[in-house]
Amino acid sequence: MFTTDQTAASEVDGDGRVPEELVDAYREHGFVRVRGVLEPDRVERLRAHAEAFLTAHRADSLEQRGTFSQLVNVWRQDENLRALTFDPRLGRVAEQLAGFPLRLWHDQLLVKEPRNNLATEFHQDRPYWPHAGDRLPLSAWIALVDVPPERGCMTFLPGTQHRAGLRPQDLHDEDDLFAADPELRWVPRVTVPLRAGDCTFHSGYTGHMALPNRTDVARIAHVVIYMDAATTYDGTPHVVTDPLGLTPGDRLDGETFPRPWRA
Ligand code: SIN
Ligand code: NI
Repeated sequence: MFTTDQTAASEVDGDGRVPEELVDAYREHGFVRVRGVLEPDRVERLRAHAEAFLTAHRADSLEQRGTFSQLVNVWRQDENLRALTFDPRLGRVAEQLAGFPLRLWHDQLLVKEPRNNLATEFHQDRPYWPHAGDRLPLSAWIALVDVPPERGCMTFLPGTQHRAGLRPQDLHDEDDLFAADPELRWVPRVTVPLRAGDCTFHSGYTGHMALPNRTDVARIAHVVIYMDAATTYDGTPHVVTDPLGLTPGDRLDGETFPRPWRA
């Protein structure tokens, strides 16, 4: 997994499967890089669609403090970005890594604007979500531009996918995850630059952060979040579930949380 081989061959086969060593790496470390999930011409088209979507919707960002522009559930609004969120190969890789059936939780465009100079500080994702009865969820973080460290690539805390039960952490506070669990401060940190068209998968409990963007080019990532198909609603507020009129214990399923890679 820490290879310096920079050949651009795709690690995903035509059926949406990755080599078993990547599955082993994901299960051991709680994250894995997968090279070449998107072909170069497709990345270029998707980057143009993402840029246009951002221009039209930047004001709707859930995050307004400059860490990133965060546009959630773009699959409902843009057919080109939906094709990426619904990509059957990506969904099958996610199920291969997870080892059980998944549904879409939500997608999001996460854009660090040029020279935003703000890190996304260490946190886990799963404590933010109103989920119950689920096994380990995971996110595909797809680079639509080259993302070297200086443009805001991700850094992971390997092995922390087993650290469930922490309170939600403030991703604007560099110390908050470590205040919640002081032992995590001493875990080695792995920074993963990506070429456009590569992605990482990380679990919902894997500690991670993203570096600041110190370049003149926007860092555009498209993130697809997959949850256990058996996940239920736990009743806490969340922007995705608030409009749905759910009762605690309801399954998060149906057309709102689809599994299009199984169509
Ligand atoms: C980021 O891309 O800046 C953060 C992504 C994440 O926290 O999952
Ligand atoms: Ni996160």
